[in-house]
Amino acid sequence: MGPGETLIEYGVEIDAQTMVTPPDTTELELEPGHPGLGDTAYVERRKELFALTRKHRLEKLGPPLIDYLPEETRIWREVSPQLDALHVKYASEIYLKAKRDLAITTDRIPQLRHISQRLERETNIHLVPAEGALPYRTFYEYIGQRGFPVTQFIRHGSHPEFTPEPDMIHDCLGHVPPLMNRDYSELLVLIGKAASIATKGEHVLFLKRFSWFSIEFGLIQEGSEVKVFGAGILSSTGEIPHSLFSPEARRRPFNTDVVIHTDYDPSKMQVDYFIAPSFNFLRHELTQLIKKLGLPVECPPVD
Ligand SMILES: [Fe+2]
Repeated sequence: MGPGETLIEYGVEIDAQTMVTPPDTTELELEPGHPGLGDTAYVERRKELFALTRKHRLEKLGPPLIDYLPEETRIWREVSPQLDALHVKYASEIYLKAKRDLAITTDRIPQLRHISQRLERETNIHLVPAEGALPYRTFYEYIGQRGFPVTQFIRHGSHPEFTPEPDMIHDCLGHVPPLMNRDYSELLVLIGKAASIATKGEHVLFLKRFSWFSIEFGLIQEGSEVKVFGAGILSSTGEIPHSLFSPEARRRPFNTDVVIHTDYDPSKMQVDYFIAPSFNFLRHELTQLIKKLGLPVECPPVD
């Protein structure tokens, strides 16, 4: 694939090169239709946290301690118990164990600085403060170096059940707990290494889809039951039951060839879900994909 070539992502044609050299966003941008637009106090708070967390990211200072506002705590206390009730029933066992071990509760917003220290001891993963959604490739460059980027701001209070962008609730209640598991962490780091070394847009896109249908929207077989481990599902009260039970959703065994050729719409609840038999199965599949794409990544043997 050479200069000027295109790929299809989210149903539209994109310049393949943007997968490899993404733009950097230096100022807070709330997308059209964001519930916080027009709320001056919210926008000011977001700008303050944007500047603070961006500085901490660029200067490698780790997540700052945040003095959360009463309104932010109110939103956490409204959303996290609803999610917790669903997690107890439908989340994968590694997620539930980690949430207990990290002592993430429904009454107080956790400090990611402290969680990062705990993860480092457990699986040698650290948290990287992120001012917002980082471009895919930048995101995976951090992960390849065992750093997981996390936001620290909270969604707008007018729609506590909804956020158009990843926020602290998505990151802390979706992505962070499974990082306590060694098999999951090694899978993630391997995706990061491969995605950050790939030089062809198409290869980055394949890895992005592999990650989307596992880390972000993955289901896992546990005995006779299918459970949720994808962060995008775990942070949405609507998508947990939708992913497992909706007749409009298609659930299939995880097949890498199908997954890397499946486009998706990130702005809606998903139509396609893939069920993995285990994290080691996914790591084995990823190792095969890395070899097939000819990426110079060292893949440790899978147990
Ligand atoms: Fe995510």
